[in-house]
Amino acid sequence: MSRKKFIAANWKMYKIPAEAKAFVDAFLPLVAGHTRDEIALFPSPVLLPTVTAACNASDVAVGAQNIHFAEEGAYTGETSVRQLIAVGGTHTLIGHSERRQYFAETDEIVNKKLHTALKHGILPVVCVGEVLAEREAGETESVLKTQVTGAFVGITPEAAAPIVIAYEPVWAIGTGKTATPELAAEAHAVIRKEATEIFGEDFASKLRILYGGSVKPENASALMAQEEIDGALVGGASLDARSFAAIVKY
Ligand code: PGA
Repeated sequence: MSRKKFIAANWKMYKIPAEAKAFVDAFLPLVAGHTRDEIALFPSPVLLPTVTAACNASDVAVGAQNIHFAEEGAYTGETSVRQLIAVGGTHTLIGHSERRQYFAETDEIVNKKLHTALKHGILPVVCVGEVLAEREAGETESVLKTQVTGAFVGITPEAAAPIVIAYEPVWAIGTGKTATPELAAEAHAVIRKEATEIFGEDFASKLRILYGGSVKPENASALMAQEEIDGALVGGASLDARSFAAIVKY
């Protein structure tokens, strides 16, 4: 089963609106006519109106890096799905390791956010991945299983269809230490097997699992050559239009 690859930029807490606009203006001509892969940008909430407007006439999707699970309410500093949709966002990351690490996001919170995103027709990219100590202790497989099972609680196979997963070994994020394509593919196979057990063969064979962690123009094609790797979630190397376009065109 061939799955269309999905290449996504996670800008984290970088760029101001003028820089975001300049990125899109430079990036769109570089990927004009590129229909082989799906492309998405995940900027900070304050940049969303600028980026959605700039990408409006293109096939480049735009999403949030995080949403709150509540529809609205007294949650100072948070962004609701309704607010995301109102500014033209269609996707969201959920449970990025930096959210788990610095903002105490648990599998239970990830699950609640996933329910909210699916309910509102937002395409969720659920991030999972082990930290270095877990890998060294031989716990990678069990950590991935726990995160995947926890994320999917109470979700039906029909509702789950739009879900994308990003496997991001935490020790590879922003460190320049990319997982080897084989090692990433191994982890993806664990995730796909778990997804098969939860939602069945049909879902799992269509599920796109992205790799993230120091993806760069130089290593993108070797990673994308793996049958198990259905795209990339790119941090540092997505901040520059030429660099991100080179990854999209791996
Ligand atoms: P990186 O970040 O490409 O800078 O390692 C990836 C991510 O955190 O999504």
